[in-house]
Amino acid sequence: MQRNYAVPAICLAIIFITFSFFISCNNGESSGNNKTTNDDSVTKVIERGKYLAHHVSLCMDCHSQRDFTQFSGPPKAGTEGIGGDFFDNKLDVPGIIYARNITSDTVNGIGKWTDDEIARAITKGISRNGDTLFPLMPYPHYNGMSKDDVYSIIAYLRTLQPNSNKVPERKLMIPMAMAYPPLQSASLESNVKPDVSDMVKYGAYIMNSAACMDCHTPMERGQFVMPKYMAGGRKFDMVSFVVTSPNITPDSATGIGKWSEAMFLEKFKLYRDKASYASNPGKNNSIMPWSMYANMDDFDIKAIYRYLRTIPAVNNHVDKYPL
Ligand code: HEC
Ligand code: HEC
Repeated sequence: MQRNYAVPAICLAIIFITFSFFISCNNGESSGNNKTTNDDSVTKVIERGKYLAHHVSLCMDCHSQRDFTQFSGPPKAGTEGIGGDFFDNKLDVPGIIYARNITSDTVNGIGKWTDDEIARAITKGISRNGDTLFPLMPYPHYNGMSKDDVYSIIAYLRTLQPNSNKVPERKLMIPMAMAYPPLQSASLESNVKPDVSDMVKYGAYIMNSAACMDCHTPMERGQFVMPKYMAGGRKFDMVSFVVTSPNITPDSATGIGKWSEAMFLEKFKLYRDKASYASNPGKNNSIMPWSMYANMDDFDIKAIYRYLRTIPAVNNHVDKYPL
């Protein structure tokens, strides 16, 4: 039987409905939606894009080469955007796919793509040649981002040093059409970033942009198990270590119900100090790129926490590192 990706898609649709609600409550007002004209603004747009690509949406996690001799596999310096990391059946991919070269190299990167072509890949999962991308590339989430945020990421990608790294072709066992999820939004024009004054809605937006769900919601046969939304249990076999994502729902017994906002924030902030990840914990390493998320703004981290308090508590005991 072919794998069916409809369920995660439906769930994403539900998330989208929630987002539409945010939008309708927001009167189109958004702190990040001002059009920019002068050089100063261009610098700000690139800075915003860099922030998202490195610390929220983590393009520079998957699209760089990770160094798992350190805790949480920070990207190896100089490999930002060059691609080459692979994902296979251990991550529920029916075959093997490779993060592609997204530097401005005109042969092996995306140097010849227009901004709109790059935006289409990021938010609709359609490559320049019309191929559908496998949804491990989190475009079903990025599809809910504001147009300004997406184009700021593109502005930042343009500043990456071109690199000629040639990434192998993917090999998939299913026709891609089978895996293509219905998307949250038909057009980026209608996406609005919720105002920061509503921390829960804003937190949902940031968390969607950070694709936390993809690791923290368990998968069975290629489908997210939505009654266990954020309840952990996804096992990652990284060869040198095996780790299972924990339950981050507000359940007090098995989730993070007992964590205060301050504890949650401190957990992320800990990894702002390189000393805290510049060691190899061996079998207790993590696939979660803490070293990158660590530099998310305090406000954005707190907003994620506030949103996570509002999702259903699910009782689901997970051993991160079973013996
Ligand atoms: C979880 C890992 C992951 C993250 C995070 C991720 N990507 Fe990807 N990306 C991939 C993979 C894997 C592919 C190739 C998919 C395939 O071959 O079907 C890809 C493909 C792409 C492509 C298409 C390139 C081409 O040649 O067709 C672009 C552009 C891209 N990603 C940009 C981004 C940007 C920008 C971000 C951040 C907003 C991002 N990606 C975040 C894994 C990721
Ligand atoms: C690439 C997969 C991945 C992504 C993406 C990811 N996580 Fe995790 N996360 C894990 C794994 C695996 C662990 C367990 C190992 C560890 O503690 O690092 C974990 C641990 C945690 C913990 C510690 C919980 C505990 O009980 O110790 C928190 C909190 C957390 N993640 C929140 C988040 C949030 C919020 C996001 C999005 C901003 C996120 N994660 C994105 C895989 C991921």
